[in-house]
Amino acid sequence: MDSTADLTGSDHVADQYASTDNLRTRRDVWGPGPEGVSPVDVLRTLVIASHPARLIEIGCGTGAFARSVLDEAPGIDYVATDLSPAMVAATRALGVTAEVASSDVLPFGDDSFDGAVAAWMLYHVPDLDGTLRELRRVLRDGGTLHVATNGREHLAGLLRAAGGDALVTQFMSEDAAEVLGRHFEHVVQRDVETRATFADHATACAYLATFSPTLARSLPHFEGPRTYAGHTAVLSAH
Ligand SMILES: C[S@@+](CC[C@H](N)C(=O)[O-])C[C@H]1O[C@@H](n2cnc3c(N)ncnc32)[C@H](O)[C@@H]1O
Repeated sequence: MDSTADLTGSDHVADQYASTDNLRTRRDVWGPGPEGVSPVDVLRTLVIASHPARLIEIGCGTGAFARSVLDEAPGIDYVATDLSPAMVAATRALGVTAEVASSDVLPFGDDSFDGAVAAWMLYHVPDLDGTLRELRRVLRDGGTLHVATNGREHLAGLLRAAGGDALVTQFMSEDAAEVLGRHFEHVVQRDVETRATFADHATACAYLATFSPTLARSLPHFEGPRTYAGHTAVLSAH
């Protein structure tokens, strides 16, 4: 059975991202799926191919994605933003321009950017349409928004093994195109399967503990490594 998870509460988001630890623990297990590509690689390729002169990223996390884009395309005027001061500090430490900002009140004028990125963060925002309106406002006509998110079956094998349910959020691969279509005329989606590899039971428990200590305690012991499928989508909208 699925359960709808409210990942948008301001206390939940503030606690979850008060430091970079939870995000780094989760990120470390992910690798390419059967197609040999990771969704992050797909997202980066799309962003660079759209040749933005000035780009905003919302919910930039540790800044790793911004850094990787700038390493390949150093000419982009890249402005990273995040609600969490710890994330902004980590991003600045990578040499990326970053500001604390809530995605629904972006401190930039109309038509300021050619491109925007929102990677694995739209399921957290309290007012999803408000954030998309704000992105539309700061993007010039024809500017492209690139997003990434997870699908209904994302890591469901691990969640079910721990006695939990698949996670259903407000912005999933299954409805992302329809949601973006409320604000953008053209939306293109690519689904990307990915793989989470846990070296051992303790690593899988540590991953679960970043968002559910209860599930972490309930995961039956297993020996050796385990791999689970992740289901993600990368979308571009203009
Ligand atoms: C799951 S992490 C993803 C981080 C990064 N985009 C990545 O892919 O690694 C979600 C990020 O969104 C940020 N965030 C959550 N709600 C936000 C909001 N309303 N405005 C701006 N950032 C927000 C969090 O602080 C966190 O850094």
